[in-house]
Amino acid sequence: MRQISIVVVLILVSSVLVYFGLTSLGLLPAEASAQAETIDWLLNIELIAISFLFSIIVVPLIYSLVVFRRKPGEEGEGEDISGNTKIEIIWTLIPLLIVLGLAYLGAWSLGDALKVDPQAMVVEVTAFQWGWKFYYPEYGLTTTELHIPVDKQILFEMESQDVIHSFWVPEFRLKQDVVPGRTTEVRITPIEQGNFTLRCAELCGTSHSYMNAPVVVVSADEFENWAQEQIALIPEDTGPNADRGEILANQNGCVACHSWDGSVLVGPTWKGLFGSEVELADGTTVVADEEYIKESILEPNAKIVAGFPQNAMPQYTLSDGEVADLIEFIKTLQ
Ligand code: CUA
Repeated sequence: MRQISIVVVLILVSSVLVYFGLTSLGLLPAEASAQAETIDWLLNIELIAISFLFSIIVVPLIYSLVVFRRKPGEEGEGEDISGNTKIEIIWTLIPLLIVLGLAYLGAWSLGDALKVDPQAMVVEVTAFQWGWKFYYPEYGLTTTELHIPVDKQILFEMESQDVIHSFWVPEFRLKQDVVPGRTTEVRITPIEQGNFTLRCAELCGTSHSYMNAPVVVVSADEFENWAQEQIALIPEDTGPNADRGEILANQNGCVACHSWDGSVLVGPTWKGLFGSEVELADGTTVVADEEYIKESILEPNAKIVAGFPQNAMPQYTLSDGEVADLIEFIKTLQ
């Protein structure tokens, strides 16, 4: 009995130490959404359970190794013990109750984290290799930075242009895959103003690790001001426009593979491209005029530049106007 009392006390002390050890490591990023609060609350309960389970196994093990080891002169076998219905019932019932309790708390937290606010603001998210686009239907606005107001539920309606990506802002905790051919949704209520980073959390090709977008959470007033400023910036449509082309090059991720400064990435640089003579993989040459660049954007495999791989570039669906804007921008990179 004395041995059992000592072990029980050691288990309790160890549980507390392990729990505080784990929580003091600061493994989690800031808690910046209402959903994060619910999820972290559940995680905390699970950390308590984990600390206790760890201790209830490891403490008696180490205690037995130290206290009950064979003393000098002891030669006999240990006592043969078998069967104890009372203990077996106890060690079946207690874990069963713990698992049922955790299942209930898990279901409750899931329901809480997915709660729908009918007043939520919609942001349409487009994921593509390798970047993000955000469309605000209430404002008719498209951006590459995600700006959202604090303390308001945001409904992200997400589509992919190519492969599976995954929408993840660690500070918001929730993560949702973006799957081609369907719209997936996630609802997030930011509760903290500040700058965060949206990361793609699904391996999606060469530049997956660069598939980030800035997330800016501001007050409702600041958000309104920002939206109006952005709307004012949308240029009037007066023929091809290099500034719009630069924005398109960023939005569509062209810049991930085509440098603007002469360095060679996955694809040829755009610096000095327009009007230059391009050597092709089949040995012929072609002048990089508007027709050639348009073809290379819409049908990337029609002509492969010498030294670059086939099928490296996805086929883009851009309007004639957008292609013209891009070419106008490439012309400025001499
Ligand atoms: Cu998109 Cu990884």
